[in-house]
Amino acid sequence: MSYRLGVLWVLGWVLSWGSVPSHAADCEPSFLAFSAKMHPLLRAKCAGCHDAAGPGPGHSVADAREAYRAATNLVNFDNLPESSFISMTRNRHWLEHDSRAEGASTAEIQAALEAWWTHGANQCHGLNGFVTTSIPLPADLPTLESGKFKALRWDLSLLAPKVPGLENAYFEIEAQRFNAAGTGFPGSFRWRKPRIATERAAVAFRGIRILLNKTFNPLENAYLGLFGVVPPGPVFAGAESLGEFPVLSSSPMILIEKRGFGDEVSIAFDKISVAAPMGCKNQAGFQSNAIPAFVAGKCFDCHGGGPDRARGTLPARALFSMADEAPVFCAKALSRVERANLDNSALITYPLQGSGGHPIVNGVSLPELKQSWLTWIRSEL
Ligand code: HEC
Ligand code: HEC
Repeated sequence: MSYRLGVLWVLGWVLSWGSVPSHAADCEPSFLAFSAKMHPLLRAKCAGCHDAAGPGPGHSVADAREAYRAATNLVNFDNLPESSFISMTRNRHWLEHDSRAEGASTAEIQAALEAWWTHGANQCHGLNGFVTTSIPLPADLPTLESGKFKALRWDLSLLAPKVPGLENAYFEIEAQRFNAAGTGFPGSFRWRKPRIATERAAVAFRGIRILLNKTFNPLENAYLGLFGVVPPGPVFAGAESLGEFPVLSSSPMILIEKRGFGDEVSIAFDKISVAAPMGCKNQAGFQSNAIPAFVAGKCFDCHGGGPDRARGTLPARALFSMADEAPVFCAKALSRVERANLDNSALITYPLQGSGGHPIVNGVSLPELKQSWLTWIRSEL
């Protein structure tokens, strides 16, 4: 394990140990942030009517956890102004029940909701955001020693009705048992090759989080900065490989286990929706800068296509065929670019650094290849 991964691993362990949620709907960071500001405000300004005795619903009861559970249904972090807390405060509904009640100002409630979000709820996308179903981590995950990974898959059509139009669309990521738990320290899992596969429409996404038991650890954030648009293509959901869809990041990530193989995994997206397919803007730049680099790197030998119309080899041509019309090839190459971190793009790190077990190209100047691709990529952004 590299030094950086090692440091993250230890920090992640320190921070996540002992924060196992006690209730499926609870997420500790969110609960703690609620307890710090929102709950005291509710106690001070609203408990006159929202305590256990009523007459209003019990979002201001003394028991912070009970109040929290009631309050989570009254806030919409995707759209704060739509939250019942805001609309009910703005219309000063308390005056209907007691003309002398003071309530609170919308600004006060808004500030408390924002603090609840920024200090904790933003780590708990089980409450808001776009979260897949949870699946138990398979007990037969391959170990680090085996060198193998197992692909886990989520059906994105289940995000409907919140996200319509994702029929025959999937999220997939490969997982491995990284180290087993020992005396006094937890075990961990390793993840790599996140992909979105989509048949009907292009899918735009932003911010991918892997949640263990609905909790996100802010230090385990390798995929948080990702965003882009995945072009549609045929999806083979019954097969071992989903089809030809881009690997969205070349970075692996370690997650510390919470309950070992009792852990459940779900995936949260900050944003996900169907989108217009995104083509390349600069076809000329692709021809003059990128194509010569593909030729020099002998990419077509395995991935197919190129001036000699190479057949390519499996699995390279099945995972990323380069034997398409120029605009399609360009769009495919662009979908393997990591927009928030260009140097880390799979298009570059797979062949030049051997990410994902890729053969490293030799006999050419790697910095020159990289520069040619980057020149074209920058012209697309
Ligand atoms: C004088 C009594 C009174 C006070 C004070 C009061 N409320 Fe209410 N509130 C009620 C009653 C009664 C209801 C339920 C009937 C209704 O919707 O008006 C209610 C309903 C609500 C609802 C909707 C709950 C739901 O389940 O849809 C919200 C949100 C709310 N109050 C927020 C607040 C906040 C925030 C405060 C403090 C700033 C507050 N209330 C202060 C009496 C009060
Ligand atoms: C010797 C054969 C070979 C050559 C040459 C080769 N590749 Fe690959 N490439 C592969 C294989 C095999 C895979 C599948 C790796 C895996 O299992 O994910 C792959 C996968 C990739 C991927 C990831 C595709 C995805 O989204 O899953 C990228 C990007 C890539 N290659 C780019 C290149 C580029 C650019 C070049 C030229 C510099 C190149 N490759 C040259 C064999 C090759």
